[in-house]
Amino acid sequence: MKTGIWPDLTLLVILVTALITGVAGAGKGISEDNLPNTESDVLLARGQQVYTRYCALCHGDNGEGYAADNANALGNQDFLVSVSDEFLWRSIANGRPGTAMAAHDKRYGGPLDETDIDSLVSLIRSWQLDESLDMTAEPILGDPVSGRIAYDQSCAVCHGYQGQGVTATSLNNPEFLSSASDEQIRLAISNGRRGTPMSAYRDQISEDTIDDLVALIRSWKREVPERFEVPEFAEFPEVVLNPDGPPPQFSLREGRYVSAEQLDTAIRNGARLILLDTRPPSDWYLAHIPGAIPAPAYDPESTMMLLPEDDTWIISYCACPHKYSDQMTDALRSNGYKNTAVLDEGVRWWQHNGYPIKYGP
Ligand code: HEC
Ligand code: HEC
Repeated sequence: MKTGIWPDLTLLVILVTALITGVAGAGKGISEDNLPNTESDVLLARGQQVYTRYCALCHGDNGEGYAADNANALGNQDFLVSVSDEFLWRSIANGRPGTAMAAHDKRYGGPLDETDIDSLVSLIRSWQLDESLDMTAEPILGDPVSGRIAYDQSCAVCHGYQGQGVTATSLNNPEFLSSASDEQIRLAISNGRRGTPMSAYRDQISEDTIDDLVALIRSWKREVPERFEVPEFAEFPEVVLNPDGPPPQFSLREGRYVSAEQLDTAIRNGARLILLDTRPPSDWYLAHIPGAIPAPAYDPESTMMLLPEDDTWIISYCACPHKYSDQMTDALRSNGYKNTAVLDEGVRWWQHNGYPIKYGP
C-alpha cells in the first residue's frame, strides 16, 4: 500500500543520520569526556524516530511547540531545567485526560512501550543546554483565597478561570497536579518560559502572591480518573453507522470540513456513515462520539482494512482539533476513498457544546 512504505523509509533515514552524526552530541558538542556512547545514541535515534511519528504533529519538529493548539514547547530551556524525567515520563505515558494530550502508554491503548517512552525522555533531555535547577520537594504554603484575586487578574485570560486551559496549557488537570511539584509550578510563574506567551512574573508579582497562586492551583487537585484496558480494534465489527440509511447531505468548508451541526443532524436522521476517532485509542476509551470506532491516525492501514470499498461517507475527528483527523483524511483520499470529511470543531468542542458523547468502555 502506498502509505505503508514512505514513513518507514523516513524513519530509516532519520535513524541512519542520527547514528552518523551522533545525536548524543546535540547541543552539547562532542569533547573528550563527552564521547558518543553507542547505547545512548541508539536510544536517542529511537527517540527521534518515535517523536517524529507521534509527537511532532502537535509539539513541532524540534519541540518548538504550538503546531497544534496549546501543545507547549518541549524544547523550552526554562521548561527543561525545571522538570524531572519522571514528570516527562508520566506526562507522556498517562497524558492529560480531557485535553489533546492522550495517554501514549500501550497499557492504556496508546502506541508506545516503555523503551519508546524512555527514548523520548532521552531525546527531550538532549535539547537541554543548561544545568537542571536544584528543586526542593518542600510544599509551598500560600493562601488560595488571595491567590484567586491575582489569578483572575493576571492568569485566567490564557489558562481559564478554572485552570482548564484556553490559549495555554491547562493547570487544573489531575495528571499535571499529581506529577508537578509545588516548586516546579512556582518556578514556571516566577521565571516564565522565554520565547512563549508565558512571561516571568517575578518582577510584577510579589513572592508571597506567587506562593498564593501556587496554593490556588494546588487546590484544584482531584483524583486521577480510572483507566481501562483497551480491546483490540478487530473487536469492532460494526464499522458503518445506520447501514440501511440514506447518504448524508454535507456542504463542506474548503472541500473538507463538516460542521458539528451538520454531522449531528446526519446521525440523528439515520444517515449511513462511518465515524473515525483518529486519536490514540486511550482517548477514545475515555470519551467518544457514539458509534465512532477507534482509528488512530498513525496507523491508517489497519483502519482501511476494515472500511467498506464503496462511497460511504467517512468522517474523521480528533481533539487538536484537526491534526490527526487531517492526517487520516489525507491517507484515505490518497487511497481512493471519495467521500471523506473532517469534523471542523473537533471532539472537545462537540463535547463541551452538549452534543452526544459516550463515556468509558
Ligand atoms: C494531538 C496533539 C498532541 C500530541 C500528538 C502530543 N501532545 Fe503532548 N501535549 C499536547 C497538549 C495540548 C498538551 C498540554 C495539555 C494541557 O493542557 O494540560 C501536551 C502536554 C505535554 C506534556 C506536558 C507538558 C507540561 O509542561 O505540562 C509533555 C511532556 C508532552 N505533551 C509530551 C508529548 C510527547 C513526547 C508526545 C509524543 C509521544 C506528545 N506529547 C504528543 C498535545 C499533544
Ligand atoms: C499570555 C498568556 C498567559 C498568561 C497571561 C499566563 N500564562 Fe502561564 N503559560 C502560558 C503558556 C503559553 C504556557 C506554556 C509555555 C510553554 O510552551 O512552555 C504557560 C505555562 C504555565 C505554567 C506551566 C504549566 C505546565 O504545564 O508546565 C504555569 C504553572 C503557569 N503558566 C501559570 C501561570 C500563572 C499563575 C499565571 C498568572 C500569574 C500565568 N500563567 C499567566 C501562557 C500564559
